[in-house]
Amino acid sequence: MCRSMLWLVAACVAWAQPKPPGAGRPATAEEIKDRDITVFPDGRGLPAGKGTAGQGEKVYKSKCAVCHNDKGEGRERQYPALVGGIGSLAAQRPVKTVGSYWPYATTVWDYINRSMPFDHPRTLSADEVYAVTAFVLHLNGIVDAARELNERTLPQVLMPNRNGFVPDQRPDVKAKR
Ligand code: HEC
Repeated sequence: MCRSMLWLVAACVAWAQPKPPGAGRPATAEEIKDRDITVFPDGRGLPAGKGTAGQGEKVYKSKCAVCHNDKGEGRERQYPALVGGIGSLAAQRPVKTVGSYWPYATTVWDYINRSMPFDHPRTLSADEVYAVTAFVLHLNGIVDAARELNERTLPQVLMPNRNGFVPDQRPDVKAKR
């Protein structure tokens, strides 16, 4: 008697288990690949491609200048400047731009690739991103107009503020440089 009661209890518990909601499905390999676009500071994740500032100027004029202005000076307060402020970070009013503040050129590539143009993200080809990144860095005086940036040379670009960040000191954060 007791035994069969136990079975009943077990059956009831099994029956009461919530079913999965049935919403969604596993992502396909294709979908995962499409979202797996992170580029790390050392250049891991960069796709093959290339471009110079000279080539990037055309991309910039047609796809970026409307917001960031002709020479990357920005517009009003809404659209940030991409140029200037190098050496100003310790001043009372630091000017933070890609050129003055960002520590890695690879991050500039990643950011443009994933989020610009603001109104049409993910529409640039890898070559266009290399070229326009080169142009933005050239406007900042960081790379020459003819220098080709590609998956090998981009991580070698030394940004002015590369030593301006310190690793997180908290003991539970395993941040290393
Ligand atoms: C429709 C307007 C618009 C266009 C076009 C546009 N941007 Fe932007 N961009 C923005 C806005 C707005 C931000 C600030 C976004 C934020 O802070 O979340 C931004 C931020 C940026 C930043 C980061 C600046 C910083 O220091 O935080 C970079 C780099 C950049 N844009 C590059 C580009 C490039 C390159 C193009 C062309 C391929 C482009 N943008 C086209 C509006 C635009």
